[in-house]
Amino acid sequence: MKRGSDFFRYLEDDDNRPSILAADETDHPRIRRAYAPAFSRRALARQEPILAKYGDALVETLSGMEGHITNIRDMFHYTLFEIVGHFQYGEEMGVLRTGARKSWVHSQPALIKASTLLSALADFTWINLLLRWTIPWMSKWLRKAYFKPSNDLIDHRLQIQSDEPDLIGLTFRNSRSSALTEKDIRANAHIMMLGGAETTMGLMTFLTACLLQHPECFARLKDEIRTEFHDKSQVSLESVSKLAYLDACIKEALRMYPPIPGAIHRVAPPGGAPIAGHWVAGNTRVYIPIFAATHSPNHFWNPEKFVPDRWLEGAEGPYQKDNKAACHPFSTGPRGCIGQE
Ligand code: HEM
Repeated sequence: MKRGSDFFRYLEDDDNRPSILAADETDHPRIRRAYAPAFSRRALARQEPILAKYGDALVETLSGMEGHITNIRDMFHYTLFEIVGHFQYGEEMGVLRTGARKSWVHSQPALIKASTLLSALADFTWINLLLRWTIPWMSKWLRKAYFKPSNDLIDHRLQIQSDEPDLIGLTFRNSRSSALTEKDIRANAHIMMLGGAETTMGLMTFLTACLLQHPECFARLKDEIRTEFHDKSQVSLESVSKLAYLDACIKEALRMYPPIPGAIHRVAPPGGAPIAGHWVAGNTRVYIPIFAATHSPNHFWNPEKFVPDRWLEGAEGPYQKDNKAACHPFSTGPRGCIGQE
């Protein structure tokens, strides 16, 4: 089913559209299929050195800040920008080590805020007309600040021969029969940066806050990690994925603070469609608000409480009855998050 695409329209570059987010039912499967192999577990394993490199850079930067007050959300954002940026364009962004491209990083939340506002107001016809006269300059400026650095990096990546397992290499540059055009690559590059860095930064920030507010959970997590690993070299994607309490903490932070908390609309096809046993008229917008679903007492016992244990096998007491299937921070279906792994 098609996404209600007002919000995504404002995230797009007029010259290169549509992106995977705004593509219609005909085009979306082509783009999704072309990107899917680059998000497989096998492809992710090839990215492991990149994750380790920027994880180390974060620790190094934070160590150098001892005694100073640091905005941890920004530090996570810079690190994720490096990771997703390297995965996307095949080179270091320089945000963590040299402070380069920080204005680009900070334009991400601004672009999302402006797009959300414009998209919501666009539902009111006369406000919409007024806004189209007054706000576009702001949105245009933001879009320029956002798309230009991405396009420059793509220009550079397309000029060089590289065996990096980056997205452009995997899906376009080194692929003889790519289903993607250069316009597709440009349209989707900055969407991957937005979708990948901003959301994961949110998760890491919320998880840190939850652990600081719950020292008993923090101690238990530290204990699990330090019992399992005695040396940095033992930490890998595979070994980390076996840490049950860490997994439970991440799931609980995603439940309490889903990085995309709102509703991602779908539009019923013109002839209408049956949805969850109800007939829905054509062109009706439908959605499941992620935050409301994960905070409803109909689904979760003590929904406002951070309780990682509810996600562990053999959860006790009333948590046994939690309806885990109601928690979909990555959404679901053919348009669910491609970066979930
Ligand atoms: C905690 C991390 C993340 C969360 C919570 C998250 C959440 C979501 C959600 C809710 C959607 C919308 C799905 C829908 O409309 O049904 C989505 C789509 C998407 N996400 Fe993520 N995401 C995360 C990380 C990532 C990463 C790391 C990447 C890539 C590097 C990524 C790339 C995308 C893309 C490209 C889409 C559009 C998929 C499509 O239309 O087929 N996301 N994500």
